[in-house]
This record gives sequence, structure tokens and C-alpha cells, in this order.
Amino acid sequence: MPIDFKGLRVVSFESRQAAEMAELIKAAGGKPVIAPSMREIPLEDNSEALTFAKLVVAGWIDLLILMTGVGTRLLIKTASTQHSIREFIDALKSVNIAALGPKPVTALREMGLGPTILVPKPYTWTDLLGILDEKYPVSKKRVAVQEYGQSNPEMIKALEERGAQVLAVPVYQWALPEDLEPLRGAMQDIISGDARRADFALFTSATQVRHLFQVAKMDGIETKLRQAFKKVCIGSVGPIASRAITEQGLTVDYEPDTPKMAHLVREMARRGGDLLYKKRTAFANRVDTNKWRRIDMVWQPGVQGQPTIKDSVFMKACRRERTPYTPVWIMRQAGRYQREYLRIRKRVTMLELCKTAEVAAEVTLMAVDRLGVDAAIIFADILLVTEPMGLNLEFVKGEGPVIHNPIRRCEDVDRLNDPDVNELSYVFDAIKITRRALRPDIALIGFAGAPFTIASYMIEGGKSRDYAKTKTMMYRDKATWNALMERLTKILSEYLNGQIAAGADAVQLFDSWVGSLSPDDYRQYVMPHVKRLIEGIDKSAPVINFSTGNPALLPLMKEAGGDVIGLDWRADLAEAWSILGDDVAVMGNMDPIVLYTSPEEIRAQAQAILDKAGGRPGHIFNLGHGVLPDMPPEHVAELVDAVHELSAR
Ligand code: CP3
Repeated sequence: MPIDFKGLRVVSFESRQAAEMAELIKAAGGKPVIAPSMREIPLEDNSEALTFAKLVVAGWIDLLILMTGVGTRLLIKTASTQHSIREFIDALKSVNIAALGPKPVTALREMGLGPTILVPKPYTWTDLLGILDEKYPVSKKRVAVQEYGQSNPEMIKALEERGAQVLAVPVYQWALPEDLEPLRGAMQDIISGDARRADFALFTSATQVRHLFQVAKMDGIETKLRQAFKKVCIGSVGPIASRAITEQGLTVDYEPDTPKMAHLVREMARRGGDLLYKKRTAFANRVDTNKWRRIDMVWQPGVQGQPTIKDSVFMKACRRERTPYTPVWIMRQAGRYQREYLRIRKRVTMLELCKTAEVAAEVTLMAVDRLGVDAAIIFADILLVTEPMGLNLEFVKGEGPVIHNPIRRCEDVDRLNDPDVNELSYVFDAIKITRRALRPDIALIGFAGAPFTIASYMIEGGKSRDYAKTKTMMYRDKATWNALMERLTKILSEYLNGQIAAGADAVQLFDSWVGSLSPDDYRQYVMPHVKRLIEGIDKSAPVINFSTGNPALLPLMKEAGGDVIGLDWRADLAEAWSILGDDVAVMGNMDPIVLYTSPEEIRAQAQAILDKAGGRPGHIFNLGHGVLPDMPPEHVAELVDAVHELSAR
């Protein structure tokens, strides 16, 4: 999808930057509905805060309770409009200070202050009362409570019941705008449920969200508004606005990886059409789109006039049929270059993520939502298969995968488990969940490592530069090597067939390190095994045979099998395809490093690869290797768009 709102209506709650926002939306092909939701209040208008500052300087306050970081900073800033900052901070040094949580503490430290009363975790007001009762009874004390956004009447009541004299000190930065009519008009557009009055809502701050619902509450239409958002695609500039949105019981449909207004508009214009369609389809199919995960999506295949998976652009290309454009997906399309992925990875390890089918499915679907690719690849790893064989696998931060008990000798191979493929049923479950929630015309790719590449990890124990241990076993002890390759071939074919049975539409074999071999070695030590493996794969799913590092292996890889041969970036696509012959499809092969450059360069390089393919049926666009963890996420989306646009026939 190009960057184009296609004339749809985009509601923005921007105030000071209203004009700029309207321009951005128009430039992206949308119709802006500007509904200012806030007005900045001059610091001097915070009369309660100014009174408080006087009382502090006069030495009247015994205890100050800080509720929020933003409010703490604002309070000090306000005080310094009437007092010198030094005078005010010095006066604060003789006040007991309690902070509810780490954020006000950080704000205090910025002023060279610290809390004198430490509130235990989880820093709730009841935790505070507990510590006050124990160490600092508030009876007859003069207690100030800093409030920002909302007050806590229960806490104030509890303090008063203990005999404290309480002074509430609300600080304000934003008020509602004086003229509420535009905001009310936008609310009516949203509530109307008329698709032509409000399609998108973009929030660029948490206050916008709160103010919108504050006015809705005043007008008695809060519930109606919340319901109506089920059919509006919601964009959020970043994590803080997103939290405010979910706190209001809504779902964020898109948050850009770069928290800037212009990125929000641009990426929403790029992906919004698909996301809106998906949200409204879900709603029509009775999904509660105000609180849903991607895996909750319900499609009714066939009903929407969608092509079926069999007729999808990706599956047609696998069969070398003509397609309206070149399908594209990106190796490692779900991963560390995306903030949404990193947020999930903070909570779970790589292995836990793979083994929690619902989360693995969510991550798989996330890449499709964000990139608009023609195929999803199930989130898993090629090395998972080593665990049921009895190896001790760990993904070590900064180092990659490590096998703690590598195999080195004949006895080690004998000692391997005769694995039960159902120990990997979590991958099958993730595939089932993903396939159900994935748009019916987008393919789901299952995958496995190829025997040589898996064997190299099992023998080396991790990554290697020269594969010395692997090759030594291969050359010196053919019987052991073959025994290992046979065991791998067996489990890998069961594994891939299990994935196909669970719903994978195609499968890919990653032979990432086989390029370290010469053609003769490949023919002798690897090809027979790969051939048998591919022959054993259910014929209903096309097989992509991918390797890197050695274009000289390509004719042999074709001989080994596969409906599609995956090229790395070092191969010349036109030359490779003419060597392979026209009876096989090819996938590839842009150098991932191009993604570091610029949209213009990405476009030019995509065009160069499309030119090499020359519009022949059977080309699937991909990188020649996986996306690196620090790639600009927008550039990956840009590449997908460029391929679709440049190849449209
Ligand atoms: O989006 C996808 O492509 C699907 C998921 C996927 C992963 N690994 C997730 C992953 C796929 C298809 C793989 C394949 C894989 N794994 C290969 C073959 C592809 C290639 O790159 O040639 C290989 C060699 C591996 C082994 C592996 N797993 C390595 C070398 C690493 C560390 C590399 C690194 O970049 O740190 C992994 C870990 C891994 N696999 C991650 C992901 C998302 C990073 C995990 C994290 O820390 O979040």
C-alpha cells in the first residue's frame, strides 16, 4: 500500500500544531478533521501551586507527598516564577518528602533533592499510609499533596482521619480549549458510525485522550464514544499516548517505531487502509475490537470476495503462475528492529517466546500488520529441533545460540534421543492460531533448518567461522556423519509435515551455512540427505530451498529439490535463474545492508532486482539474508511498498 489515506477522514486532536497536522494529513491523501483538545495554561495561573510555594518558603509545610513526576517538575517550575529556584529548593530541604513511585523521585533528583520518606513497593497510597503510621505519624501535621491530572480523595480523607491538616496542591499544564465545538463535532462524527465521517483517529499525547473522554463524560456520551471507536482505526504516536488509550478501554491499532507526529501520519497512511479494513471486518464478525489481540481476528473466508490462499499472489508465484505484482516477504521480518517486538522480548526470553504459541503467533501477525507483506513466516527458530534430540539450547544475549552439550564423537550421536516431534507441538499450535487470524490471501510459511546447518550448530556448539569441527567429522568419520544426517532428516521431515498439517501453506529450508562447502562436498555429504528430506515433504505445500554463501552450489540445490530456490545477495539473480532453468521459481535477493541507506536508494536497488527477474513468473522478492537488528523499521516497510509499486503489471 502506498502512502495514501485515499481520501478517508482522519481525526486529529492537535491544538498548537493543528495547522501542521492538517497539512501532513492532506499531503498523505487524507481529509483532516481537526478537533483541538487542549489549551496550555500559563504557569502563573496555577494559584494553588503559588500559594503552596509561599507556605514552603514560610516554613509552614511539614510533609509533601509527590504523586507524579510531571507534576513535581511543573510544581517546581511554577514556584520559580515567584521565588528564586535556590530559595525554594533550600526551603524544600526542611520539608519531609514522600514520593509515590520512581518518577517523582527522578524529578526530585534533577533538583538535587531526594525523598526523606521511602515508600515501599508497589508505591500505592496505602503503602504510603503504612509507612507514615509506622515512622511518621501525621497527626497535627501540615501535609501538602501534589496532584496532577486527578486527585485522590480517599487518600486525603485517610490523612485527615489521622488528624493531618491537608492542603491539596493541584498543578495544571493543560486545560480544555475555550471553544469545544470542533471537539464535539468530531465526537459526533465518530459516534455516527458513518464510515465517511471518521475513519482514523490519531493521538499524539496522553492528554488528548484524557480530554476527549473528559468532554464525552461531561456530555454524557462516554459509553457511546467508546463503543463507536470499535470501527475507527486508532493511531498513537508512542508508548505514553498508547497507555492512555488502553486505559480508556480502547485498542491501539498502530504505533510507529519512531515516536514523531510525521511518522505517525506517514506510517498510518501506509498501513491504515489494511488495518481499517481488518478492524471493520473483525467488528462485523463480532470481535470486540476495543480489546483484541491480533490472534483474536475472525475472517469468514470466501464471504468478503477475498481470493483464497490457493489463488494468492504468493502461492501463484511459487507455482510460477502470472501474478499482478511480485510478492514480497522479508527474512526475519519479525524481530529486534521493531519496538513492538522488543517490548514483548523485555518480558520473555527468546525460547519462552517461541514456546508460548499465542505470543509467537501475535509476533508473526505483527510483522504482516506493520509491513504489508504477502507472506507471514511463523515465529520460531531453526535450532528448536535440537532440544527434543537431547541438546541443551540457549540463546545468549549478544552471542546468539549456544548448545551447551555439543556432539563431538560417534558415541554422542548414539546418545541422541529418538525424538518425538510432538515435543515441538508449540510450533504447530502457533501455526494453527496464526493461520486462523491471518488474512485469507496471505500465505503462512513454516520452516526448518537444513541438516547441514543444524548439524554445524550441534557439533560446533554455536556459531563458527570455519566449521572446522563439523567438516572434520564429515571427512574423517563418514559413518557417524551419515548417522547424524539421517537422524536429522527424519525429525526434520516429520517436523515440516507437522507444520503443513497445522496450516503452513509453504515451507522453507534454511541451509544458512552450507555455503562453506565445495560443490563436490555438497554432492557427496549433503545432497542425498536434503533430497530425501524434500522428497518426504507433503506435496500440498511448495518448498523453498534457501542457502547462502556459495552460488556454485545452486545447480546442486536444484537437483536436491524445491519448488523455489532461495538466493543470497551475492548471486546475480538473472544469471542464477538462467543456470537453474525456467522450471523452478526463485526467491531473493537484495542485500539487507541497502536498508541502511535511503528510500530512494532502496527503490533503485529494488528496481534493479526486479529488472533482473524481468517480470518472469515465479519470482518472490526477498532479501538475500535476514534483516539486521538495527535496521530502520520504516525502511523495511518502504521496501515492501516499493516492490509492490514497481512490479505492478
Ligand atoms: O521472521 C522470521 O524470519 C522468522 C523467525 C526466525 C528466527 N530465526 C527468529 C530469531 C527464523 C526464520 C530464523 C532462522 C534462523 N535461526 C537461521 C537461518 C536464517 C539465517 O539468518 O540465515 C539461523 C542461522 C538461526 C540461528 C539463530 N537464531 C541465530 C544465529 C540467532 C542469533 C542471531 C542474532 O541476530 O542475534 C538466533 C536468534 C533469533 N532467531 C532471533 C530471532 C528473532 C533473535 C532473538 C532475540 O534476541 O530476540
